[in-house]
Amino acid sequence: MDSHTGYVTVAQVGEVPPGTCRTVEVDGIFLALCNVDGTFRAVDNTCPHAGGPLGEGCLEGDVIECPWHGWRFNVRTGERPENPEIRVPCVEVRVEGTNVQVKVPLTL
Ligand code: FES
Repeated sequence: MDSHTGYVTVAQVGEVPPGTCRTVEVDGIFLALCNVDGTFRAVDNTCPHAGGPLGEGCLEGDVIECPWHGWRFNVRTGERPENPEIRVPCVEVRVEGTNVQVKVPLTL
């Protein structure tokens, strides 16, 4: 961890092509890291429905679909389009060179 800046590298840019997502881990917490047309976003990996792994789901535009029962979440806002009162926490992401980094400590 880079304690000076408060960001930690979780992936390389080339590991998460546009339109895809993957699960990453920071300090024992799992996040769904998404590449929305070149812009990286990250949300809590745990689906609020029944704990499904969002990072293993499908990304369509800026919406990720849980692989277990299909609940969808906008990865920019964390909101479920069908019911915005249900949401997943979002995490701040930045790109430094080829490093994709998230802000720590996580506030999920
Ligand atoms: S656990 Fe995600 S939709 Fe059911």
